[in-house]
Amino acid sequence: MSTSNERPLIEISGLSFSYSQRAVLSGIDMQFGRRQVVAVMGASGSGKTTILRLMGGMLKPSAGSVSINGLALGPLDQEQLYAVRRKMGMLFQFGALFTDLTVFENVAFPLREHTDLPDAIIHDLVLMKLHAVGLRGAHALRPSQISGGMARRVALARAVALDPEVILYDEPFAGLDPISLSVTASLIRRLNTVLGATSVLVTHEVNESFEIADYVYFISNGRVAAQGTPAELKVTTDPFVRQFVDAAPDGPVPFHYPAPPYAQDLGIAP
Ligand SMILES: Nc1ncnc2c1ncn2[C@@H]1O[C@H](COP(=O)(O)OP(=O)(O)OP(=O)(O)O)[C@@H](O)[C@H]1O
Ligand SMILES: [Mg+2]
Repeated sequence: MSTSNERPLIEISGLSFSYSQRAVLSGIDMQFGRRQVVAVMGASGSGKTTILRLMGGMLKPSAGSVSINGLALGPLDQEQLYAVRRKMGMLFQFGALFTDLTVFENVAFPLREHTDLPDAIIHDLVLMKLHAVGLRGAHALRPSQISGGMARRVALARAVALDPEVILYDEPFAGLDPISLSVTASLIRRLNTVLGATSVLVTHEVNESFEIADYVYFISNGRVAAQGTPAELKVTTDPFVRQFVDAAPDGPVPFHYPAPPYAQDLGIAP
C-alpha cells in the first residue's frame, strides 16, 4: 500500500480466481505503491503464484480486477498484454537459466527478443546489469560453471534487463544459503531503488522480507488474512501472523492439503 497520496501503481480489487472447480482466491483487495517493495506471504498452496500470474496477465480473473497504472488487465487482448508485460520483469519460482547460453547471453536474451538495439548497446547494457548484481566478471561462464546463488543473481539481472516498471519475484530465495539469501534480498531492494520500480516479492522468508519490504500481505484461504508494515506486523498479536513470524508448525495455517478422511482414502472407511 502506498504511504503517499499517489495512486498505487498496481491495484487489485475484489479479485477472485478458480482453476476449473477449485476456488483459489475469493475477493482479494491489494495495493502496490510506486517505488515500493511489497511482500506477499502465505502458506504453500495459498495462491501466491496465482496472484503473480494474474498480475502478469497469464491468467484472467474470474471476478474483480488487476490494474496497472489504472489499466485493467482482464479485458486486454494478447497484443495489449504483450505491451504491458514489456514493462514487467519476472523471476519465476522455478525459472532457470538457459543452460546452453553463457551468463552474458542469458541476460542479453530479453534485450534481443524485445528490442532492436544494436549489439554494441546490448553489450553495454548487459555488462551494466551484470555489474549491478556483482557478476560482470562471470559474463563468459555457463550456468553449469556458477553456483546456485550466482545463478539466481544472473536471473535477477535478466529480469531487470529491460528496466521494468514492475518486478515480480516468485520465491527468489528458495534454496539459497543464508549469505546468498541476504545478498539477494539487498539486491532486490537496491534494484528497486535504482530502477524506481515497484517490486512484488512472493516468499516464505519472513526475516528477509520484513527487512526489505515497505508493506506485507499475508494470504490465507483465498483471502488477505493480515497486512501492514513490517514494524506493525512484528508486534501484532494476530495468531496467523504470529505463526509465520514465530515459525510455529501449528496454528491457523493447516499442515494438510484438503483431503477426504484418511480412512476413506485407505479403503477402510466403515
Ligand atoms: N494449473 C493449475 N491447475 C489447477 N490447480 C492449480 C494450478 N496451479 C495451482 N493450482 C492450485 O491452486 C492453489 C494455489 O496454488 P499457487 O501455486 O498459487 O500456491 P502458492 O501460494 O504459490 O504455493 P507455494 O508456496 O507452494 O508456491 C493450490 O492449491 C494449487 O494446487
Ligand atoms: Mg508458488
